[in-house]
Amino acid sequence: MKSHIEIQLIEKSKIDSVDFNNLPFGSVFSDHMLEIDFKDGAWQTPIIKPYSPITLDPSAKIFHYGQSIFEGMKAYKDAEGKMMLFRPLENCRRLNKSAERLVIPQIPEDVFMDGLKKLLEVDSDWIPTNEGSSLYIRPFMFATGNGFHASPANAYKLVICTAPSGAYFAGKVKVLIEEKYARAANGGVGFAKAGGNYAAQFYPTQLAIEKGYNQVIWTDDNSHQFIEEAGAMNIFVRINDTLITSPTSDRILDGITRKSILQIAEDAGIKTEVRKISVGEVVEAAKNGNLKEMFGAGTAAVISPIAGFGYQENDYDLPELENPFASQLKKKITDIQTNKVEDPYGWRVFL
Ligand code: PLP
Ligand code: COI
Repeated sequence: MKSHIEIQLIEKSKIDSVDFNNLPFGSVFSDHMLEIDFKDGAWQTPIIKPYSPITLDPSAKIFHYGQSIFEGMKAYKDAEGKMMLFRPLENCRRLNKSAERLVIPQIPEDVFMDGLKKLLEVDSDWIPTNEGSSLYIRPFMFATGNGFHASPANAYKLVICTAPSGAYFAGKVKVLIEEKYARAANGGVGFAKAGGNYAAQFYPTQLAIEKGYNQVIWTDDNSHQFIEEAGAMNIFVRINDTLITSPTSDRILDGITRKSILQIAEDAGIKTEVRKISVGEVVEAAKNGNLKEMFGAGTAAVISPIAGFGYQENDYDLPELENPFASQLKKKITDIQTNKVEDPYGWRVFL
């Protein structure tokens, strides 16, 4: 069933002021946004309206207790102007998984999908066609209901806004393997895309940046002996010809790029393993030349090769390979996402 959507169009588009050949990541915003309020126990009529500030009560619970979750997805346009999304229902389902953990109401999948598709139809001119660019989509839900009582709010808002975007990282990434701080703990909210997970990363990441790294690779909170994921992406390690990634858990985000890459790699005949990766084995492999590649995988990051890592005051460089798995897999996944090749998996959803 198609939900009714109220549409309030902008008077004058700002698209002419945007340089689509030099797009930053996530800081230029399209003309419209979608807003759906939850109040009196029900989701209200979705509204598409000009991208504009949101006014909230100072005692709204989002400010005090951080009831806030988000998603990250992308829309693409092919050479003929056909528009598509990549596995969008996975994002909607993960949003609802995060919502359950943060006691935020579930958004019905058809309401989410209909609203998103309509928003993209209205702002279709904002979907970039340049190589390496796409329309980054940011759905988020948060507590608008107020009061200082530390309990779930009685009102929420789902907003989707979009940003034509280029690459998340400017170049190769240098990471620091974390030994002290933890991103998530057993029984916590690590698997959810809760805003607080990201806020909690900022301080250790700032310390890493001061030492010359771009990102932290989180290790398990208990022993700090096993690699988990990075701040905005899942991590793959290539030891000789085997591609390894950690299993997801309630501490690690179940990345859509991660599982797509695993599938593509297996189908391309690359040996993959999903298992715990000890920091010791990565350091050892780096020392004896068996560590061939490391890369991050995520919607924003796509596939971001890692140039080297730091651990216990030592730096380890990764080799420059002729045709690394990272490049092969990035080409395969982006070709599927942008309709350049067949999609044997049914991952593309045309608008
Ligand atoms: N891990 C974290 C912490 C993330 O924020 C993201 C980004 O969404 C990912 C992994 C990758 O997930 P996905 O591929 O679904 O974007
Ligand atoms: C994404 O990849 O979509 C994310 O949500 C990561 C974000 C921190 C930029």
